[in-house]
Amino acid sequence: MLMTVLVLFFFSTAAAEAEYLKYKDLEQPLKDRIKDLLRRMTPEEKIGQMTQIDIKVASPEIMEKYFIGSILVGGGNELPPKASAETWINMVNEFQRGALSTRLGIPIIIGTDAVHGQKQCLRTNVAACAKHFVGDGGTMNGIDENNTVIDLDGLLRIHMPAYLDAISKGVATVMISYSSWNGKKMHANYDLITGYLKKELKFKGFVISDSEGIDKITYPPHANYTYSVQEGIHAGIDMVMVPEKFIEFINVLTFLVKEKFIPISRINDAVERILRVKFLLGLFENPMADLNLVNQLGSQEHRELAREAKAQKILVAGSHANNIGYQCGGWTIEWPGLSGNSTIGTTILTAVKNTVDPLTEVIYNENPDREFLKSKHFSYAVVVVGELAYSETVGGNMNLTIAEPGYDTITNVCEVVKCVVLIISGRPVVIEPYLENLDALVAAWLPGTEGQGIADVLFGDYGFTGKLARTWFRTVDQLPMNVGDQDYDPLFPFGYGLTTTPTEPLAAQ
Ligand SMILES: *[C@@H]1O[C@H](CO)[C@@H](O)[C@H](O)[C@H]1NC(C)=O
Ligand SMILES: *[C@@H]1O[C@H](CO)[C@@H](O)[C@H](O)[C@H]1NC(C)=O
Ligand SMILES: *[C@@H]1O[C@H](CO)[C@@H](O)[C@H](O)[C@H]1NC(C)=O
Ligand SMILES: *[C@@H]1O[C@H](CO)[C@@H](O)[C@H](O)[C@H]1NC(C)=O
Repeated sequence: MLMTVLVLFFFSTAAAEAEYLKYKDLEQPLKDRIKDLLRRMTPEEKIGQMTQIDIKVASPEIMEKYFIGSILVGGGNELPPKASAETWINMVNEFQRGALSTRLGIPIIIGTDAVHGQKQCLRTNVAACAKHFVGDGGTMNGIDENNTVIDLDGLLRIHMPAYLDAISKGVATVMISYSSWNGKKMHANYDLITGYLKKELKFKGFVISDSEGIDKITYPPHANYTYSVQEGIHAGIDMVMVPEKFIEFINVLTFLVKEKFIPISRINDAVERILRVKFLLGLFENPMADLNLVNQLGSQEHRELAREAKAQKILVAGSHANNIGYQCGGWTIEWPGLSGNSTIGTTILTAVKNTVDPLTEVIYNENPDREFLKSKHFSYAVVVVGELAYSETVGGNMNLTIAEPGYDTITNVCEVVKCVVLIISGRPVVIEPYLENLDALVAAWLPGTEGQGIADVLFGDYGFTGKLARTWFRTVDQLPMNVGDQDYDPLFPFGYGLTTTPTEPLAAQ
């Protein structure tokens, strides 16, 4: 008796193993793999793929039970704080194991709130860049036709044309700003967004809403969740960043599909986009993050030095010259961001030191007085000033000035020493009254941890190519001001920016 059972068991296992699963076959064209997987999926499995839940409410069991497609690591929600890469990998793999134990074994994708890091992804192949952490959970993320992660954070809150311009120019860090497009704020105009995405970007990624974003389709938020889900999915949102009340979301979407308020064709379209990204990332072949590359994170090699600039003695000044936290701005470690050594990186001061000739003396003085400036005989000065870190409401500000004593630093230094002023900010700020004193101005926005990128362009190893993705105002009372306005009188117009070429050809990489 026992023998028979064992034999039967053996046969059924063998039969299961023998079943050919086209979607798992790497040799098959992508579209066939997607089609094959899609036709095997139940409505429950499809709706699960469209659901992104917060890591706080996630567990391997929940991933399995609800067929969840994605986890969000929300801003300031890193568990535990400053966790090592090993800790992250092990944590992600636990969730992944839950997802893989489902009938079809569809891997999850992780979204994380961040405005930095994606810059790297814009230039590199996704697989090499971030196998499991994709883009930005903030609002949207996706992959373009060249298999490149596109960070679409803040899409619902800022203005599409400017944003697309920023993306096309390779400016990944665009934060919430005061200006607006032709005076009209873009509030959750999903049709417009998806239309743009499809037309302008030839977008092959998927569209994901912001955290509790669809709730805000009604006022007060969540007043009619059924309506929110229906409108959101209809308008083209493929994955919903729920992120906590996911059972409600799943129930509502299931109801809407069952009652045919949302056609299954729209669900299939959404799931197809999500699956495509997962296939493109190679998650089906390599679902588990591995520890092999851990040592390379932030390695010296990745902070490669640029070459020298001949000068005897230079000054680096300003509140933002030696401050990683300010360089990163909001949505970094903590929701509103931090000041100082909040994480590992290269400050602009360090980057300048790394870049200049070893014989060049680099003197750092945050806010030097005139006597000091006159006595030192600097060849030139790099002044780095800007805004304090903020996110969203924390950044609400009617004057759009930089942090004290930034303007004094500019005035004092630039009246005495030839200077370049770098502004670290999430938006245009007041600068016109100070322009006459300075020799060059760089809008560095929020460059993130690697200040070396700034030194690379400052010292001519790379050319400046970025163009303004926003209009830069003269005075705040001009706002809102947008290209196309009748009385458009900006300090620097939309699209402005010098283009320079590297001073010497780059060494072969
Ligand atoms: C993809 O790569 C091709 C060839 O390099 C380029 O012409 C095209 O603009 C790229 N597409 C995007 C969206 O960057
Ligand atoms: C909620 O929205 C649905 C779908 O549009 C609508 O049928 C229903 O009447 C709304 N419920 C309330 C309480 O407004
Ligand atoms: C951050 O660390 C650097 C290098 O150790 C140090 O020079 C600097 O004073 C620190 N900054 C702050 C704000 O603590
Ligand atoms: C500008 O506004 C901010 C925030 O409201 C405030 O902290 C700051 O003191 C203001 N600066 C000036 C120069 O008025």
